[in-house]
Amino acid sequence: MFSGSVLGKIADHESVGKNFSEIMSNLLLQSGDDIDSWSDQNSNMVLILELAKSLNSQVAEGQASAVNTLHEVLNRLYSLDFEIPKDSQSGPHSSYTLRAIQSILEKGAMDHLENTVTNLEVSIPRKLSGSEAVKIIKDVIHAHGAFDHPYYKTTLREHANIEDLKYYFAQEITVDPRFDDLIANLQVGLRGIAKMELAHNYWDEMGNGEPSEVHTDLFKRATDALGICEKSLGQNLSFESILCGNVSVLLACRRDNFYRGAGYFGAMEYLVPIRMDHVLHCWKRNKLPSDAIRYHEVHMSVDEQHSEGWFKNVIEKAVDENPACFAEILEGVIWRLETSMWYLDMLESRSSALTA
Ligand SMILES: [Fe+2]
Ligand SMILES: [Fe+2]
Repeated sequence: MFSGSVLGKIADHESVGKNFSEIMSNLLLQSGDDIDSWSDQNSNMVLILELAKSLNSQVAEGQASAVNTLHEVLNRLYSLDFEIPKDSQSGPHSSYTLRAIQSILEKGAMDHLENTVTNLEVSIPRKLSGSEAVKIIKDVIHAHGAFDHPYYKTTLREHANIEDLKYYFAQEITVDPRFDDLIANLQVGLRGIAKMELAHNYWDEMGNGEPSEVHTDLFKRATDALGICEKSLGQNLSFESILCGNVSVLLACRRDNFYRGAGYFGAMEYLVPIRMDHVLHCWKRNKLPSDAIRYHEVHMSVDEQHSEGWFKNVIEKAVDENPACFAEILEGVIWRLETSMWYLDMLESRSSALTA
């Protein structure tokens, strides 16, 4: 059993991130009961939560290494929410200590986004209808640099080789292979036509009942064709990929973030078809097996329907019922655009570094 103490580590401001990361690595190897009995001793609970808050303070001060640590640890905690443990006792899943730490890190991640995402000048009419809200969202998306980003439009489409594609696909794993679970989480608590829209979306994710057409399996077909080994997936993830994955979970799984999530995932669906076209072009140019790229073919058409249905039945409906929710919906749209931009800028600069 883990017997380390946080005492003494907390005072060392310089090593907050390193100490926190080290303690979390140890805790995540333990069972929930062992973690909680450790945290019940010697005020360890208070101290580890203080350490997490100190990390958040460093994130708020803009320390890049602290932002990195926060997202790395949050990513590991979120992994637990997307796997079924062997039983209720052996994994760390049941720990209340980890839940408390997760909540603090989520607050740090939200504050970081609020402070770093560029504020866009968007004029919103005082009497806003749902259809006007959707028009504003589409205008914002089309005017943003993430829309048809040069990484997709030129670098991937025209120049990427198989190694570049491997790297790209390996980075995509923080969202694509769990997209069905994200949709399932996002719909919790909805009723009526919005719930039906997300149910429809989920059923498409399930291949409309056809096992060989389940989207997560189709995605795996592409990674298999590229020879990406399953073990290496999850390693070599860029910070930007981890951050995009974490924001997706944070907005899909927390009910208080529902409106931001509605905007974020609506924008994501809207951006997909044009991006998939570029990936498909790259795939064919590299003469990769055509039956392995069905995931991207399917999403070129299905996500066009998904975004239209989403805008009409989730966003338009929500704004017509309560125009005040639009502020958070729009915030979610902008968070998607900005985090996607950070991610694509990273891919673009990595590609130019490779070809330089
Ligand atoms: Fe899908
Ligand atoms: Fe979709």
